[in-house]
Amino acid sequence: MLVDTSWLAEEADTAAMAGRAVVVIDVLRACTTMIHALGNGAIEIIPVAREEDAREKVRGARPATGVLLCGERGGKKLRGFDLGNSPLEYTAERVSGKRIVLTTTNATRALAMVSGGDLVLVAALSNAGAVAASLMGFGRDVLLLCCGTEGEFAHEDAVCAGAIAARLAGDAVFGETDATRTARSLFRAASGDLEAALRGSRWGRHLAGMGLADDLVFCSRLDSSSVVPRLVGGRVLALTGEPPRE
Ligand code: MLT
Repeated sequence: MLVDTSWLAEEADTAAMAGRAVVVIDVLRACTTMIHALGNGAIEIIPVAREEDAREKVRGARPATGVLLCGERGGKKLRGFDLGNSPLEYTAERVSGKRIVLTTTNATRALAMVSGGDLVLVAALSNAGAVAASLMGFGRDVLLLCCGTEGEFAHEDAVCAGAIAARLAGDAVFGETDATRTARSLFRAASGDLEAALRGSRWGRHLAGMGLADDLVFCSRLDSSSVVPRLVGGRVLALTGEPPRE
């Protein structure tokens, strides 16, 4: 199993995805939010890159059909949306049994870019261990795809890539690129205090400045969830049961 890492979603192309398991990583905050929402009983997340397309998707569908319109730009909830992008908003009371149309600055755009991949998983620090276990089950080569922040390298995503790779490194057939080796070093350096790592990152400072420091605490909780979301036909669903060995 060769594990490669890309620092930016823009680096994903069809050739890079072919035959591999692609893991989309956005610790702050969209992937953490998706994992938490599915864990709290949301039926599915429909990621949409553009705000106007998200609005169009729910036109005439709310609230009777149980669809929530959710997302942010610049970290702020969008006007007229039901929820923003704070994982703490996605309580079981609000999301259980609901379909969630989600648009965010980076992650939903990244998911649109990789929608052609046949095995795409969603990861954050909260489900790093569970994602690694699934990847071992699938047994494919892996591309850890960091979303980054507005086209720039994001430290917290690289740390998460390292957390997943560190687990895979125990696998007998593990091999890695230099990018993955670097991600593992970043994780090792940050693992003593992941919350501090998130607070120090560019987007972490931005969110804290908006009064969202509690989100950083939540998003830094390593292995707090066993939910492994998978992108299937444009929808993000919780993978259930043991993944098949392919
Ligand atoms: C994104 O997808 O760009 C992020 O999750 C932004 C955020 O923190 O809301």
